[in-house]
Amino acid sequence: MSKERTLSIIKPDAVERNLVENIKSIFIKNNLIIQDSKKIHITKDEASEFYKVHQSKPFYNELCSYLSSGPIVVMILEGENAIKSNRKLMGATNPKEAEENTIRKLYGISIDKNSVHGSDSLENAKKEIEFFFKN
Ligand code: CMP
Repeated sequence: MSKERTLSIIKPDAVERNLVENIKSIFIKNNLIIQDSKKIHITKDEASEFYKVHQSKPFYNELCSYLSSGPIVVMILEGENAIKSNRKLMGATNPKEAEENTIRKLYGISIDKNSVHGSDSLENAKKEIEFFFKN
């Protein structure tokens, strides 16, 4: 077990439906500490930079338009195995395939409007935290 930090994003569909506190309480109940949190509205250029690992994917343009379509909440979560733990709490990318009681099963609408994003590796967690929380 090791203490890690990961980046979590509450996406526009969930912010719009007032689900921020519900989602935060799932993290807290599951021993992830919210070290920092801010509500922001990013530009499409910023979203394109953030998701550039997906630039070759057919859904890239739509993905970047979506993330910049409304306010989001970005958070640094800290805890034992935070990266894996957050991904387990989020559930599968496609809400239809997500396990019961995961955030995406509870709140996700579609593969695009899947309510949350979470870093998938230690390396990406560092980059993604730096992206939103550089001093
Ligand atoms: P996220 O974890 O934020 O990472 C990239 C996002 O692309 C993903 O969640 C989905 O919301 C979105 N996406 C859209 N279409 C697809 C797809 N076919 N496969 C994977 N991700 C997709």
